[in-house]
Amino acid sequence: MSQVDEVTGALLEVTLAGTSTVPSADANLEDAHVTIGATVPTGFEFTAAAEVEEKLGCPCKISKDRGKIYFDIKKDRLAQVHRLRSVDNLFVIVKEFSDFPFKETKEDALKDLGDLAEKLPWESALSAWELNNSLKKRKKRKKPGYPGKEKKQPVTVSGAETPREEGADTEQSRGSLERESLQDEDSVEHPREEGATDKISEEMQDSPKTLPSSVAEGQGTQNPDKEADTPPDSEGKDNGTASGNVLKFRVTCNRAGDKHSFTSNDAARDFGGAVQEHFQWKADMTNFDVEVLLNISYNEMVVGIALTEESLHRRNITHFGPTTLRSTLAYGMLRLCDLQPSDVIIDPMCGTGAIPIEGVSEWPGSFFLAGDNNKQAVNRTGSNIQSLLRKHQSPESAPSNLRIDAVHWDISSLPLRDGSVDVIVTDMPFGKRMGSKKKNWDLYPACLREMSRVCRAGTGRAVLLTHDRKCFIKALAKAGHLWRKVHTVWVNIGGLHAGVYLLKRTSFDSTKETQRESQLADPAPCPKDE
Ligand SMILES: C[S@@+](CC[C@H](N)C(=O)[O-])C[C@H]1O[C@@H](n2cnc3c(N)ncnc32)[C@H](O)[C@@H]1O
Repeated sequence: MSQVDEVTGALLEVTLAGTSTVPSADANLEDAHVTIGATVPTGFEFTAAAEVEEKLGCPCKISKDRGKIYFDIKKDRLAQVHRLRSVDNLFVIVKEFSDFPFKETKEDALKDLGDLAEKLPWESALSAWELNNSLKKRKKRKKPGYPGKEKKQPVTVSGAETPREEGADTEQSRGSLERESLQDEDSVEHPREEGATDKISEEMQDSPKTLPSSVAEGQGTQNPDKEADTPPDSEGKDNGTASGNVLKFRVTCNRAGDKHSFTSNDAARDFGGAVQEHFQWKADMTNFDVEVLLNISYNEMVVGIALTEESLHRRNITHFGPTTLRSTLAYGMLRLCDLQPSDVIIDPMCGTGAIPIEGVSEWPGSFFLAGDNNKQAVNRTGSNIQSLLRKHQSPESAPSNLRIDAVHWDISSLPLRDGSVDVIVTDMPFGKRMGSKKKNWDLYPACLREMSRVCRAGTGRAVLLTHDRKCFIKALAKAGHLWRKVHTVWVNIGGLHAGVYLLKRTSFDSTKETQRESQLADPAPCPKDE
């Protein structure tokens, strides 16, 4: 028995009844448990785990592979899983291998991966996928006239979706760049044109995809890589079988680790070929029903099936800006400051409003004020608030009254009373796409000073995100009498290493600040020696 056979020995007990794709009756039971995997913003794994435990009441495992969590749930709770605020992408696990014996030679390693396809216990995960299809809302992105963002042909890229440790050999297989680039677009300081407007329209899926009761026979194994060169429609012959019913699939491989003898492309291609042979599905890189995930991190491997077509972080924003923050990251930042129902919360540099909009959606009892010195940004925030209002107003419901406003202001002189704000959560200009590092040397100290004036002394909190750590730490050192650093969460934002700083407002009276400053600038003369 080979090492792989040993590892998968337990799986052999699962009879897959030839190549049938029909889940067994047992696997269809909605109270059966499945393991869900979720990608989350790196650095916020513990926040995500806490949310799962709080909202679903189940323990959560944080993966060694950064940016992922796992938890077991009953299948009938899938809808609740989609309502989690800290998860980007969801998948159901087919099988997890904590120590997969990857062979040394490429040929042997790929053969093992290929051999695995028919041994895996697919049924339960596939029935969860099917159930998920009947539940989920499909989000379709439309990008009117947005240049340079057409659907990309998949290529081999390094995986930023699940950022890895420095120096690790990471990559993502063919067919998965698209989702990765979406993440970068939505991240801070991401490359998006000013004025570009993305629309997300939501629609319930009219005809949920189901596993076919019969599958096409006689389709030859096809290399999913080659599928990209061959439009699926042109292959409509399907050997005269139930072509309408044949599922289309792709395999996406995320790989981290420098000891593998194969690339993620190799793994996706060979495993994909075996999956196709096993189920007689049809490979399609872009227009697929099932996305099989092969997540390899060093000697760990997880085979899963995607439950989301696009990241859930896009939920709130209809009018994007150049540096729109992911809603999942905004949620993580907001959660850090222990919001209370009566709190007044401001985002003084709101951009498109991702933070306060996420805030008002999840903490409707608090009051949110968003402001920016850029009128276009304030308008976009206003449009995003309007979209949220429309979403909240179904024809049957009374008009919602969201406790949020957007204002045009400058952070160095906020039109707010002293001590009138409980919490400040903001994403500061990094000085790369937004502003400049030079300007930050004036902006950051001014921010901390004005924020300390409006924030309640003694109890106020601030959560500030920046990539310009050097400038921030210097500014904070000068404002040490006003702000105390409690905690830093390190996050990866589109490949940039950034800090989320949780600060507590000291009880120092900020009205004495001017007096203190002038004392520091003009120290009392030293008494002269007599
Ligand atoms: C990194 S972006 C914030 C992005 C935002 N979180 C979003 O989701 O769109 C920083 C914002 O700070 C704003 N800003 C820069 N200097 C400012 C100032 N002096 N007063 C107020 N806003 C300022 C910029 O206009 C920009 O919208």
